[in-house]
Amino acid sequence: MLREKKKVFIETLGCQMNMADTERMLGLLEEIEYYPTEKFEEADLSILNTCSIREHAVDKMRSYIGSWDKTRKPGSLIALSGCVAQQEGKKLIHDVRTVDILLGTHNIHRLPDLVLEAENQHQEAIANNIEGAELNRGLYKRPQVAEIWESLPEDIPETPIFRKTKYYAWVNIIYGCNYRCTYCIVPKTRGDQRSRPINEIKKEIEQLASEGYKEVILLGQNVDGYGLDIGTSLAKLLEEVHEVDGIERIKFLTSHPCDMSFELIETVARLPKISKYFHIPIQAGDNEVLKRMARRYTYERYMELINYIRKLMPDASITGDVIVGFPGETHEQFMNTVKAVQEIKYDACNTAVYSPRPYTPAATWDDPVSAEEKNERIRFLNAVVTEIAEKQSQRYLGRIEQVLIEGRSTRNPARLTGRISNNKTTNIDCDPAHHDNYIGKFCDVEITQAKAWALRGKLKDSSSAMS
Ligand code: SAH
Ligand code: SF4
Ligand code: F3S
Repeated sequence: MLREKKKVFIETLGCQMNMADTERMLGLLEEIEYYPTEKFEEADLSILNTCSIREHAVDKMRSYIGSWDKTRKPGSLIALSGCVAQQEGKKLIHDVRTVDILLGTHNIHRLPDLVLEAENQHQEAIANNIEGAELNRGLYKRPQVAEIWESLPEDIPETPIFRKTKYYAWVNIIYGCNYRCTYCIVPKTRGDQRSRPINEIKKEIEQLASEGYKEVILLGQNVDGYGLDIGTSLAKLLEEVHEVDGIERIKFLTSHPCDMSFELIETVARLPKISKYFHIPIQAGDNEVLKRMARRYTYERYMELINYIRKLMPDASITGDVIVGFPGETHEQFMNTVKAVQEIKYDACNTAVYSPRPYTPAATWDDPVSAEEKNERIRFLNAVVTEIAEKQSQRYLGRIEQVLIEGRSTRNPARLTGRISNNKTTNIDCDPAHHDNYIGKFCDVEITQAKAWALRGKLKDSSSAMS
């Protein structure tokens, strides 16, 4: 295609689902000669891939869009994609006037066509009614291209992917979610559960291996639900992925305590390439709250899973998510969650104050607990979480761990950064002149410092890294 090469800038909010979608959007755009840039000011197209899990994420969207419009390159296009777009539908393009293109989560493959349509509208506007000065100041009818699909198409199109990461890769295994947790917007933004066929996933991973990727992270809102709709299971998928030569580390997230099977835990314990790492959000440790959240498990069932994981894999790393201040949560119920967190001993745990979401049942419920009280609760819980994480982290001290070195640390470019098999971030002191010898390799690292959220270490056996 003979078109001028253009530049696209994407800002991604939200979870790995959105990150994976961003990589697909970049892959698709390459087909119409749009290439990624890290500089917003030079972009011909800027995309904000939005998240709506909490109000805070939607506020972020508004502040980005506001500042983008003021600083955009004259004549450039702005697109909104992701969960807020899917949730709000076409009306969003009228609410947020400075947006030229809107697309939802189910029709990402349509992005190139929508961009070309917006480019045409833009050219027509320029040809018809505007002068250079108006273009610079944005004083003309902007393109308005909006397309939202209700659900994923029957045959989900395979799209090209432009991967931002070089040594590990995210791989979608299941889209959407069949649960209806009463606080959660995801079923509205991502639709019902749809598993990708094993052979498709395996093909993608074999391709990654042939390109030199060493690690894959299998993604879904509920990975344990994988296969239920196509007569297979996550355990079976893991067996298959484990066979791919060249892929040396496999992770999966997020797990749902209701669908996680003992068979899966046994499979993880048995297969050496699978990280002994489980992200299993509990949300609350009180059975009454869990029931009102419609989580469909009890604290006892959750503990059964944790105990079985620790029995088979004493060193496993377990992380979770907790919502604080769910409508009507009493002080006693909150303290049950604190006790649960203390008993589970998470390696890390994300906490968030409950945020009412549109279209969800819990948003309409009475909520007598004040915002101050909720803030007080989350501060208290965070202190507990940090203390436990710090203690848990100590077990790595003095050990030799295999770190897949991902690159230079953004905080301190003189250091290398990567992750151990249990997923903990590890920063490594290393002479910058030698960095390139290590990036993308598995290296033995002696852990010299263990903080709550990250480890520090030094390279042990540099000869293995040079190979
Ligand atoms: N599918 C996963 C998590 C999805 S969303 C699961 O079932 O656990 C990621 C996290 O955001 C959740 O684990 C939850 O802790 C948090 N979250 C979701 N909705 C929220 C809301 N309305 N308010 C605050 N936190 C929320
Ligand atoms: Fe949301 Fe619940 Fe589905 Fe997780 S399981 S994505 S919290 S509805
Ligand atoms: Fe946000 Fe959508 Fe993920 S709401 S957390 S980006 S699925």
